[in-house]
Amino acid sequence: MNNSASSLNNKKKFLILGCGFSGSFFAKRIRELGCTALTSSRSDNKDQNSFVFNSENGKVPNKKIFDGVTHILSCIPPDKNGNDPVLGSLKDQLKSLSLEWVGYLSTTGVYGNTKGNWVSEIDLPNPYQNRSHRRLNCEKQWIESGLPVQIFRLPGIYGPGRSIFETIRNKKIRVISKKNQVFSRIHVADITNAIIYLLQNKNYLKFYQIINIADDEPCSQIEVIQYCYDLLGLKMPKPILFEDAKKELSPIAQSFWMENRRVSNKLLCKTLGYKLIYKNYKLGLKNCFLNS
Ligand SMILES: NC(=O)c1ccc[n+]([C@@H]2O[C@H](COP(=O)([O-])OP(=O)(O)OC[C@H]3O[C@@H](n4cnc5c(N)ncnc54)[C@H](OP(=O)(O)O)[C@@H]3O)[C@@H](O)[C@H]2O)c1
Repeated sequence: MNNSASSLNNKKKFLILGCGFSGSFFAKRIRELGCTALTSSRSDNKDQNSFVFNSENGKVPNKKIFDGVTHILSCIPPDKNGNDPVLGSLKDQLKSLSLEWVGYLSTTGVYGNTKGNWVSEIDLPNPYQNRSHRRLNCEKQWIESGLPVQIFRLPGIYGPGRSIFETIRNKKIRVISKKNQVFSRIHVADITNAIIYLLQNKNYLKFYQIINIADDEPCSQIEVIQYCYDLLGLKMPKPILFEDAKKELSPIAQSFWMENRRVSNKLLCKTLGYKLIYKNYKLGLKNCFLNS
């Protein structure tokens, strides 16, 4: 398998739409491989490689930004009506380009509640939350766009600067216990590396339009929090039962506890041969601990 950077070189120009946590990590890595990467944000900033795109106020990028673009990665969530902000504003522009590839970061929320069972790409989506219905609609819009799109379904994203350590530090941690409840997660470095792996091996691997990127070990949130406290050498607060904690949680926080699923990465890691950098939360959190 080709693990070199040969297929991603200085002739490739990426537009990363939505340069938040995952987008900025991806941009940094793809530049290290010699590619050009321009990134969008909703407001002006001093970064020379950044441009403004904000579907909410109709601010679209200057046409020159699109010159020579070969790859697009969209990290922008659905709008409040369940439409994709990128397609709503830029579809014609994107269709006029000679794009080799378009990546779209989606969520495993589209699978809904599997009551703790494993779920994979061959399972039909069964969204439960409104936001997951909106997301599924955006996936549909991307597929129907006719662009060469690949959709990545992601569980909870964490990494240096965005992990339980920050929640503990900000004193916002709630240790909640709910029987048999698990969450899947993914380290931001594995999102980037898995996508780059697929791009570098594009000519050898079968193309799958929808791929989960998740680690090997879905587990309870308490295990994860306990591990962070152990690394910090601190005592974890006593867990609160979900039923007791529920009334204090925001509707969005509550909604995450309403779904229980184990997201399979077999397609990515077995069929397609990607090797995770952080196979489980312990490896991933150790990296966050050392880099925070
Ligand atoms: N966070 C998670 O645990 C998680 C899990 C699964 C899937 N996802 C999804 O995966 C994607 C990437 O996640 P992330 O956490 O890396 O995202 P993030 O840090 O929240 O970044 C989102 C980006 O989208 C931009 N954006 C939002 N609305 C926009 C609009 N209407 N027009 C233009 N730009 C807009 C934001 O612009 P600004 O930079 O100006 O704010 C930001 O750059 C998102 O779609 C997210 O919903 C997230």
